[in-house]
Amino acid sequence: MSQIQEKKTLDLGYCRDDFPIFNQEINGHPLIFLDSAASSQQPSSVIDVVAQYQREDHANVHRGVHVLSHRATESYENARDKLCNFINAANRNEIVLTSGTTESINLVAQSFCRPMLKQGDQVLISWLEHHSNIVPWQLVCEQTGAELIVAPINDDGEIDIDAMITLMTERVKILAVGHVSNALGTINPLSTIIAAAKNMGIPILIDGAQGVPHMGVDVQLLDCDFYAFSGHKMLGPTGIGVLWGKEALLDAMPPYKGGGDMILEVNFDKTVFNELPYKFEAGTPNISGTIGLGAAVDYLQTVGMDNIYEHEKILHTYMVEKLSAVDGVHLIGTAKNQASVQSFRLNDIHPHDLGTILDHQGVAVRTGHHCAMPVMQRLGLPGTTRASLGLYNNFNDINRLIDALEKARQIFK
Ligand SMILES: Cc1ncc(COP(=O)(O)O)c(C=O)c1O
Repeated sequence: MSQIQEKKTLDLGYCRDDFPIFNQEINGHPLIFLDSAASSQQPSSVIDVVAQYQREDHANVHRGVHVLSHRATESYENARDKLCNFINAANRNEIVLTSGTTESINLVAQSFCRPMLKQGDQVLISWLEHHSNIVPWQLVCEQTGAELIVAPINDDGEIDIDAMITLMTERVKILAVGHVSNALGTINPLSTIIAAAKNMGIPILIDGAQGVPHMGVDVQLLDCDFYAFSGHKMLGPTGIGVLWGKEALLDAMPPYKGGGDMILEVNFDKTVFNELPYKFEAGTPNISGTIGLGAAVDYLQTVGMDNIYEHEKILHTYMVEKLSAVDGVHLIGTAKNQASVQSFRLNDIHPHDLGTILDHQGVAVRTGHHCAMPVMQRLGLPGTTRASLGLYNNFNDINRLIDALEKARQIFK
Protein backbone atom coordinates (compact mmCIF):
# COMPACT_ATOMS: atom_id res chain seq x y z
CA MET A 1 0.00 0.00 0.00
CA SER A 2 1.46 3.38 -0.97
CA GLN A 3 2.15 6.05 1.63
CA ILE A 4 -0.35 8.37 -0.03
CA GLN A 5 -3.08 5.77 0.32
CA GLU A 6 -2.14 5.16 3.91
CA LYS A 7 -2.26 8.86 4.71
CA LYS A 8 -5.63 9.31 3.09
CA THR A 9 -7.06 6.45 5.07
CA LEU A 10 -5.64 7.77 8.31
CA ASP A 11 -6.85 11.28 7.57
CA LEU A 12 -10.36 10.09 6.98
CA GLY A 13 -10.11 7.97 10.08
CA TYR A 14 -9.98 11.28 11.98
CA CYS A 15 -13.66 11.74 11.07
CA ARG A 16 -14.21 9.31 13.89
CA ASP A 17 -13.89 12.19 16.34
CA ASP A 18 -17.13 13.54 14.89
CA PHE A 19 -19.01 10.42 16.02
CA PRO A 20 -19.71 10.55 19.79
CA ILE A 21 -20.75 6.88 19.92
CA PHE A 22 -17.07 5.94 19.84
CA ASN A 23 -16.42 7.64 23.18
CA GLN A 24 -17.28 4.52 25.11
CA GLU A 25 -16.09 1.06 25.99
CA ILE A 26 -18.06 -2.10 25.30
CA ASN A 27 -17.37 -5.00 27.63
CA GLY A 28 -14.23 -3.22 28.81
CA HIS A 29 -12.84 -2.57 25.32
CA PRO A 30 -12.99 0.47 23.02
CA LEU A 31 -15.96 0.05 20.65
CA ILE A 32 -15.06 -1.36 17.24
CA PHE A 33 -18.12 -0.93 15.05
CA LEU A 34 -18.21 -3.15 11.97
CA ASP A 35 -21.97 -3.23 11.39
CA SER A 36 -22.60 -0.15 9.27
CA ALA A 37 -24.45 -2.13 6.60
CA ALA A 38 -27.20 -2.71 9.17
CA SER A 39 -27.24 0.88 10.43
CA SER A 40 -24.48 3.47 10.38
CA GLN A 41 -23.48 5.76 13.24
CA GLN A 42 -24.37 9.45 13.30
CA PRO A 43 -21.99 12.43 13.50
CA SER A 44 -22.61 15.17 16.08
CA SER A 45 -23.83 17.49 13.32
CA VAL A 46 -26.80 15.16 12.65
CA ILE A 47 -27.54 14.55 16.33
CA ASP A 48 -27.33 18.30 17.09
CA VAL A 49 -29.58 19.40 14.24
CA VAL A 50 -32.27 16.94 15.32
CA ALA A 51 -31.96 18.06 18.96
CA GLN A 52 -32.11 21.73 17.94
CA TYR A 53 -35.26 21.14 15.92
CA GLN A 54 -36.88 19.33 18.87
CA ARG A 55 -35.79 22.01 21.32
CA GLU A 56 -36.44 25.19 19.33
CA ASP A 57 -38.44 24.63 16.16
CA HIS A 58 -40.77 21.69 16.65
CA ALA A 59 -44.17 22.12 14.98
CA ASN A 60 -46.07 20.41 12.20
CA VAL A 61 -45.10 21.22 8.62
CA HIS A 62 -47.02 22.74 5.71
CA ARG A 63 -50.14 23.72 7.64
CA GLY A 64 -49.29 26.37 10.15
CA VAL A 65 -49.23 30.15 9.84
CA HIS A 66 -47.08 30.56 12.95
CA VAL A 67 -43.33 30.99 13.13
CA LEU A 68 -42.47 27.51 14.40
CA SER A 69 -44.42 25.84 11.60
CA HIS A 70 -42.67 28.05 9.04
CA ARG A 71 -39.29 27.15 10.49
CA ALA A 72 -40.08 23.43 10.58
CA THR A 73 -41.41 23.53 7.01
CA GLU A 74 -38.37 25.40 5.75
CA SER A 75 -35.90 22.96 7.33
CA TYR A 76 -37.93 19.97 6.14
CA GLU A 77 -38.15 21.20 2.55
CA ASN A 78 -34.47 22.26 2.57
CA ALA A 79 -33.60 18.66 3.34
CA ARG A 80 -35.55 17.57 0.25
CA ASP A 81 -33.49 20.02 -1.84
CA LYS A 82 -30.28 18.61 -0.39
CA LEU A 83 -31.36 15.06 -1.25
CA CYS A 84 -32.30 16.19 -4.77
CA ASN A 85 -28.84 17.65 -5.27
CA PHE A 86 -27.10 14.68 -3.60
CA ILE A 87 -28.37 12.11 -6.12
CA ASN A 88 -28.65 14.63 -8.98
CA ALA A 89 -32.40 14.25 -9.43
CA ALA A 90 -33.85 16.39 -12.21
CA ASN A 91 -36.06 18.23 -9.74
CA ARG A 92 -37.29 18.18 -6.15
CA ASN A 93 -40.71 16.75 -7.08
CA GLU A 94 -38.95 13.47 -7.74
CA ILE A 95 -37.85 13.11 -4.11
CA VAL A 96 -40.59 11.26 -2.21
CA LEU A 97 -39.85 11.01 1.51
CA THR A 98 -40.70 7.58 2.89
CA SER A 99 -39.82 5.65 6.03
CA GLY A 100 -36.97 3.90 4.20
CA THR A 101 -36.01 1.56 1.39
CA THR A 102 -38.64 -0.99 2.40
CA GLU A 103 -41.50 1.48 2.11
CA SER A 104 -40.08 2.93 -1.11
CA ILE A 105 -40.08 -0.49 -2.79
CA ASN A 106 -43.55 -1.31 -1.49
CA LEU A 107 -44.77 2.01 -2.87
CA VAL A 108 -43.55 1.15 -6.36
CA ALA A 109 -44.91 -2.41 -6.15
CA GLN A 110 -48.35 -1.23 -5.09
CA SER A 111 -48.72 2.05 -6.93
CA PHE A 112 -46.73 1.56 -10.14
CA CYS A 113 -47.05 -2.21 -10.63
CA ARG A 114 -50.28 -3.39 -9.07
CA PRO A 115 -52.60 -1.44 -11.39
CA MET A 116 -50.85 -2.69 -14.53
CA LEU A 117 -49.77 -6.27 -13.70
CA LYS A 118 -51.89 -9.16 -14.89
CA GLN A 119 -51.66 -12.91 -15.27
CA GLY A 120 -48.84 -13.87 -17.61
CA ASP A 121 -46.72 -10.82 -16.68
CA GLN A 122 -43.43 -11.25 -14.86
CA VAL A 123 -41.41 -9.36 -12.24
CA LEU A 124 -37.65 -9.93 -12.52
CA ILE A 125 -35.29 -9.79 -9.52
CA SER A 126 -31.99 -11.54 -8.68
CA TRP A 127 -30.93 -14.17 -6.13
CA LEU A 128 -28.81 -11.53 -4.39
CA GLU A 129 -31.71 -9.45 -3.11
CA HIS A 130 -32.52 -8.37 0.44
CA HIS A 131 -35.96 -9.54 1.62
CA SER A 132 -37.17 -5.95 1.11
CA ASN A 133 -36.60 -6.39 -2.60
CA ILE A 134 -38.27 -9.81 -2.71
CA VAL A 135 -41.36 -9.85 -0.50
CA PRO A 136 -43.07 -6.69 -1.89
CA TRP A 137 -42.86 -8.31 -5.34
CA GLN A 138 -44.20 -11.62 -4.05
CA LEU A 139 -47.15 -9.75 -2.55
CA VAL A 140 -47.98 -7.88 -5.74
CA CYS A 141 -47.58 -11.04 -7.81
CA GLU A 142 -50.06 -12.82 -5.53
CA GLN A 143 -52.46 -9.90 -5.84
CA THR A 144 -52.31 -9.77 -9.64
CA GLY A 145 -51.46 -13.29 -10.82
CA ALA A 146 -48.09 -12.16 -12.18
CA GLU A 147 -45.02 -14.37 -11.75
CA LEU A 148 -41.78 -13.61 -9.89
CA ILE A 149 -38.69 -14.75 -11.78
CA VAL A 150 -35.16 -14.72 -10.42
CA ALA A 151 -31.81 -14.27 -12.18
CA PRO A 152 -29.19 -16.71 -10.83
CA ILE A 153 -25.85 -15.88 -9.17
CA ASN A 154 -22.50 -17.67 -9.30
CA ASP A 155 -20.47 -19.03 -6.38
CA ASP A 156 -18.61 -15.72 -5.97
CA GLY A 157 -21.91 -13.95 -5.40
CA GLU A 158 -22.17 -12.21 -8.79
CA ILE A 159 -25.36 -12.04 -10.82
CA ASP A 160 -25.15 -14.14 -13.99
CA ILE A 161 -25.73 -11.17 -16.30
CA ASP A 162 -26.19 -13.26 -19.46
CA ALA A 163 -28.87 -15.31 -17.72
CA MET A 164 -30.52 -12.14 -16.42
CA ILE A 165 -30.61 -10.62 -19.91
CA THR A 166 -32.10 -13.85 -21.30
CA LEU A 167 -34.92 -13.50 -18.76
CA MET A 168 -35.66 -9.94 -19.97
CA THR A 169 -38.53 -10.71 -22.34
CA GLU A 170 -41.59 -8.65 -23.23
CA ARG A 171 -43.43 -10.44 -20.39
CA VAL A 172 -41.25 -8.67 -17.78
CA LYS A 173 -43.00 -5.54 -16.51
CA ILE A 174 -40.41 -4.44 -13.97
CA LEU A 175 -36.82 -5.30 -13.06
CA ALA A 176 -35.88 -4.73 -9.41
CA VAL A 177 -32.24 -5.21 -8.49
CA GLY A 178 -29.90 -4.09 -5.74
CA HIS A 179 -27.06 -1.64 -6.27
CA VAL A 180 -24.86 -3.44 -3.72
CA SER A 181 -25.57 -6.75 -1.97
CA ASN A 182 -25.88 -6.28 1.79
CA ALA A 183 -24.95 -9.91 2.46
CA LEU A 184 -21.95 -10.31 0.15
CA GLY A 185 -20.92 -6.78 -0.81
CA THR A 186 -21.18 -7.40 -4.55
CA ILE A 187 -21.45 -4.17 -6.57
CA ASN A 188 -23.76 -5.03 -9.44
CA PRO A 189 -22.87 -3.85 -12.97
CA LEU A 190 -25.81 -1.45 -13.13
CA SER A 191 -24.91 0.22 -16.41
CA THR A 192 -24.97 -3.13 -18.25
CA ILE A 193 -28.15 -4.28 -16.51
CA ILE A 194 -29.96 -0.98 -17.05
CA ALA A 195 -28.93 -0.72 -20.71
CA ALA A 196 -30.23 -4.25 -21.38
CA ALA A 197 -33.54 -3.60 -19.61
CA LYS A 198 -33.98 -0.26 -21.43
CA ASN A 199 -33.40 -2.06 -24.68
CA MET A 200 -36.41 -4.23 -23.86
CA GLY A 201 -38.47 -1.29 -22.57
CA ILE A 202 -38.53 -2.72 -19.03
CA PRO A 203 -38.85 -0.21 -16.16
CA ILE A 204 -36.07 -0.53 -13.57
CA LEU A 205 -36.03 -0.08 -9.81
CA ILE A 206 -32.69 -0.02 -8.01
CA ASP A 207 -32.56 -0.92 -4.32
CA GLY A 208 -29.87 1.58 -3.36
CA ALA A 209 -29.86 0.94 0.41
CA GLN A 210 -26.22 -0.17 0.28
CA GLY A 211 -25.22 2.01 -2.68
CA VAL A 212 -25.92 5.62 -1.73
CA PRO A 213 -24.02 5.53 1.60
CA HIS A 214 -20.77 4.36 0.03
CA MET A 215 -20.39 5.85 -3.47
CA GLY A 216 -21.56 8.80 -5.51
CA VAL A 217 -24.95 8.13 -7.13
CA ASP A 218 -26.25 10.14 -10.07
CA VAL A 219 -29.73 8.93 -10.90
CA GLN A 220 -29.82 10.78 -14.22
CA LEU A 221 -26.57 9.16 -15.29
CA LEU A 222 -27.76 5.74 -14.15
CA ASP A 223 -30.98 6.25 -16.12
CA CYS A 224 -33.02 3.84 -14.02
CA ASP A 225 -36.68 4.67 -13.28
CA PHE A 226 -36.77 4.35 -9.49
CA TYR A 227 -34.02 4.40 -6.85
CA ALA A 228 -34.78 3.58 -3.20
CA PHE A 229 -32.63 4.26 -0.12
CA SER A 230 -32.66 4.64 3.69
CA GLY A 231 -31.38 7.47 5.89
CA HIS A 232 -30.11 5.30 8.73
CA LYS A 233 -27.49 3.61 6.54
CA MET A 234 -26.04 6.95 5.41
CA LEU A 235 -25.30 8.59 8.78
CA GLY A 236 -28.89 9.79 9.21
CA PRO A 237 -31.70 8.90 11.61
CA THR A 238 -33.92 5.80 11.43
CA GLY A 239 -37.44 5.88 9.99
CA ILE A 240 -36.65 8.14 7.04
CA GLY A 241 -35.72 7.32 3.48
CA VAL A 242 -36.32 8.23 -0.12
CA LEU A 243 -38.02 6.98 -3.20
CA TRP A 244 -36.62 8.77 -6.22
CA GLY A 245 -38.61 8.26 -9.40
CA LYS A 246 -38.77 9.88 -12.81
CA GLU A 247 -41.34 12.64 -12.58
CA ALA A 248 -43.48 11.44 -15.49
CA LEU A 249 -43.82 7.99 -13.91
CA LEU A 250 -44.56 9.29 -10.41
CA ASP A 251 -47.06 11.74 -11.84
CA ALA A 252 -49.02 8.98 -13.54
CA MET A 253 -49.08 6.74 -10.45
CA PRO A 254 -52.05 6.69 -8.04
CA PRO A 255 -51.49 7.55 -4.36
CA TYR A 256 -50.14 4.73 -2.23
CA LYS A 257 -51.71 5.82 1.06
CA GLY A 258 -54.57 8.21 1.82
CA GLY A 259 -54.66 10.89 4.51
CA GLY A 260 -53.78 14.47 5.31
CA ASP A 261 -51.24 16.45 3.29
CA MET A 262 -51.64 14.30 0.17
CA ILE A 263 -54.84 16.09 -0.88
CA LEU A 264 -55.83 19.45 -2.35
CA GLU A 265 -59.56 19.07 -1.72
CA VAL A 266 -61.71 16.43 -0.04
CA ASN A 267 -65.43 15.92 -0.63
CA PHE A 268 -67.32 12.74 0.15
CA ASP A 269 -67.94 12.10 -3.53
CA LYS A 270 -64.48 13.09 -4.79
CA THR A 271 -61.01 13.90 -3.51
CA VAL A 272 -58.45 15.89 -5.49
CA PHE A 273 -54.95 14.67 -4.76
CA ASN A 274 -52.00 16.93 -4.07
CA GLU A 275 -49.16 17.41 -6.52
CA LEU A 276 -45.85 15.60 -6.47
CA PRO A 277 -44.18 14.72 -4.22
CA TYR A 278 -46.88 15.32 -1.58
CA LYS A 279 -49.32 12.95 -3.31
CA PHE A 280 -47.22 10.13 -1.81
CA GLU A 281 -46.63 11.68 1.62
CA ALA A 282 -49.87 11.10 3.54
CA GLY A 283 -50.03 12.15 7.19
CA THR A 284 -47.55 13.97 9.39
CA PRO A 285 -44.12 13.02 8.09
CA ASN A 286 -40.95 12.19 9.99
CA ILE A 287 -39.94 15.84 10.30
CA SER A 288 -36.96 15.47 12.65
CA GLY A 289 -35.70 12.45 10.69
CA THR A 290 -35.85 14.37 7.43
CA ILE A 291 -33.99 17.33 8.90
CA GLY A 292 -31.39 14.93 10.32
CA LEU A 293 -31.04 13.26 6.95
CA GLY A 294 -30.41 16.66 5.38
CA ALA A 295 -27.55 17.18 7.85
CA ALA A 296 -26.21 13.70 7.02
CA VAL A 297 -26.14 14.65 3.34
CA ASP A 298 -24.22 17.84 4.23
CA TYR A 299 -21.71 15.74 6.15
CA LEU A 300 -21.26 13.16 3.37
CA GLN A 301 -20.81 15.89 0.78
CA THR A 302 -18.25 17.69 2.92
CA VAL A 303 -16.13 14.53 3.19
CA GLY A 304 -16.82 13.74 -0.47
CA MET A 305 -18.37 10.53 -1.79
CA ASP A 306 -15.30 9.73 -3.89
CA ASN A 307 -13.11 10.01 -0.80
CA ILE A 308 -15.47 7.77 1.15
CA TYR A 309 -15.49 5.17 -1.63
CA GLU A 310 -11.70 5.17 -1.87
CA HIS A 311 -11.23 5.04 1.91
CA GLU A 312 -13.57 2.09 2.28
CA LYS A 313 -12.02 0.31 -0.70
CA ILE A 314 -8.55 0.52 0.84
CA LEU A 315 -9.90 -0.75 4.15
CA HIS A 316 -11.86 -3.54 2.48
CA THR A 317 -8.78 -4.73 0.60
CA TYR A 318 -6.83 -4.69 3.86
CA MET A 319 -9.62 -6.56 5.65
CA VAL A 320 -9.75 -9.26 2.95
CA GLU A 321 -5.96 -9.67 3.13
CA LYS A 322 -5.99 -9.99 6.91
CA LEU A 323 -9.04 -12.27 7.08
CA SER A 324 -7.57 -14.56 4.43
CA ALA A 325 -4.48 -15.02 6.60
CA VAL A 326 -6.47 -16.26 9.61
CA ASP A 327 -6.35 -20.03 9.85
CA GLY A 328 -9.87 -21.42 9.34
CA VAL A 329 -11.44 -18.31 7.82
CA HIS A 330 -13.42 -18.93 4.68
CA LEU A 331 -14.51 -15.80 2.79
CA ILE A 332 -18.13 -15.78 1.56
CA GLY A 333 -18.68 -13.37 -1.31
CA THR A 334 -15.66 -12.98 -3.54
CA ALA A 335 -17.04 -10.90 -6.39
CA LYS A 336 -14.53 -9.00 -8.52
CA ASN A 337 -16.27 -5.74 -7.68
CA GLN A 338 -17.04 -5.54 -3.98
CA ALA A 339 -18.04 -2.73 -1.64
CA SER A 340 -17.14 -2.37 2.02
CA VAL A 341 -18.86 -5.54 3.21
CA GLN A 342 -17.22 -8.91 3.89
CA SER A 343 -18.99 -12.07 4.94
CA PHE A 344 -17.02 -15.04 6.23
CA ARG A 345 -17.13 -18.25 8.27
CA LEU A 346 -14.56 -19.35 10.84
CA ASN A 347 -14.20 -23.14 10.75
CA ASP A 348 -17.59 -24.60 11.65
CA ILE A 349 -18.26 -22.14 14.48
CA HIS A 350 -21.87 -20.97 14.37
CA PRO A 351 -21.92 -17.28 13.37
CA HIS A 352 -24.04 -16.34 16.41
CA ASP A 353 -21.46 -17.92 18.76
CA LEU A 354 -18.67 -16.16 16.92
CA GLY A 355 -20.50 -12.82 17.01
CA THR A 356 -21.02 -13.17 20.75
CA ILE A 357 -17.34 -13.84 21.39
CA LEU A 358 -16.37 -10.86 19.23
CA ASP A 359 -18.84 -8.70 21.15
CA HIS A 360 -17.17 -9.71 24.43
CA GLN A 361 -14.06 -8.08 22.98
CA GLY A 362 -15.91 -4.91 21.95
CA VAL A 363 -16.16 -5.83 18.27
CA ALA A 364 -19.66 -5.40 16.79
CA VAL A 365 -20.38 -7.49 13.67
CA ARG A 366 -23.56 -8.91 12.14
CA THR A 367 -24.35 -12.61 12.14
CA GLY A 368 -27.05 -14.70 10.50
CA HIS A 369 -28.79 -14.60 7.14
CA HIS A 370 -28.66 -10.77 6.82
CA CYS A 371 -32.29 -10.65 5.56
CA ALA A 372 -31.12 -12.45 2.44
CA MET A 373 -32.18 -16.05 3.06
CA PRO A 374 -32.21 -17.02 -0.64
CA VAL A 375 -28.53 -16.00 -0.94
CA MET A 376 -27.67 -18.21 2.03
CA GLN A 377 -29.70 -21.10 0.59
CA ARG A 378 -27.94 -20.70 -2.76
CA LEU A 379 -24.53 -20.89 -1.03
CA GLY A 380 -25.67 -23.77 1.20
CA LEU A 381 -25.13 -21.85 4.45
CA PRO A 382 -27.37 -21.13 7.43
CA GLY A 383 -25.66 -17.76 7.78
CA THR A 384 -22.37 -15.90 7.92
CA THR A 385 -20.50 -13.43 10.07
CA ARG A 386 -20.40 -10.07 8.31
CA ALA A 387 -18.03 -7.16 8.90
CA SER A 388 -19.13 -3.97 7.17
CA LEU A 389 -17.28 -0.68 7.08
CA GLY A 390 -18.10 2.99 7.25
CA LEU A 391 -16.05 6.12 6.68
CA TYR A 392 -15.18 6.22 10.40
CA ASN A 393 -13.40 2.85 10.37
CA ASN A 394 -9.62 2.51 10.17
CA PHE A 395 -6.84 -0.09 10.04
CA ASN A 396 -6.87 -0.50 13.81
CA ASP A 397 -10.52 -1.63 13.71
CA ILE A 398 -9.59 -4.41 11.34
CA ASN A 399 -6.56 -5.41 13.39
CA ARG A 400 -8.83 -5.64 16.44
CA LEU A 401 -11.28 -7.82 14.48
CA ILE A 402 -8.43 -10.14 13.52
CA ASP A 403 -7.16 -10.34 17.13
CA ALA A 404 -10.68 -11.13 18.32
CA LEU A 405 -11.04 -13.86 15.69
CA GLU A 406 -7.74 -15.40 16.79
CA LYS A 407 -9.07 -15.48 20.34
CA ALA A 408 -12.29 -17.11 19.18
CA ARG A 409 -10.27 -19.71 17.28
CA GLN A 410 -8.35 -20.58 20.46
CA ILE A 411 -11.60 -20.86 22.47
CA PHE A 412 -13.15 -23.27 19.93
CA LYS A 413 -9.98 -25.32 19.42
C1 LIG B 1 -29.89 -4.04 0.27
C2 LIG B 1 -30.95 -3.63 1.25
N1 LIG B 1 -32.17 -3.38 0.82
C3 LIG B 1 -33.17 -2.99 1.65
C4 LIG B 1 -32.93 -2.86 2.98
C5 LIG B 1 -34.05 -2.43 3.88
O1 LIG B 1 -33.80 -1.17 4.41
P1 LIG B 1 -34.76 -0.53 5.52
O2 LIG B 1 -34.90 -1.57 6.60
O3 LIG B 1 -34.03 0.68 5.96
O4 LIG B 1 -36.05 -0.24 4.85
C6 LIG B 1 -31.68 -3.13 3.50
C7 LIG B 1 -31.40 -3.07 4.95
O5 LIG B 1 -30.53 -3.73 5.46
C8 LIG B 1 -30.64 -3.51 2.60
O6 LIG B 1 -29.41 -3.77 3.04
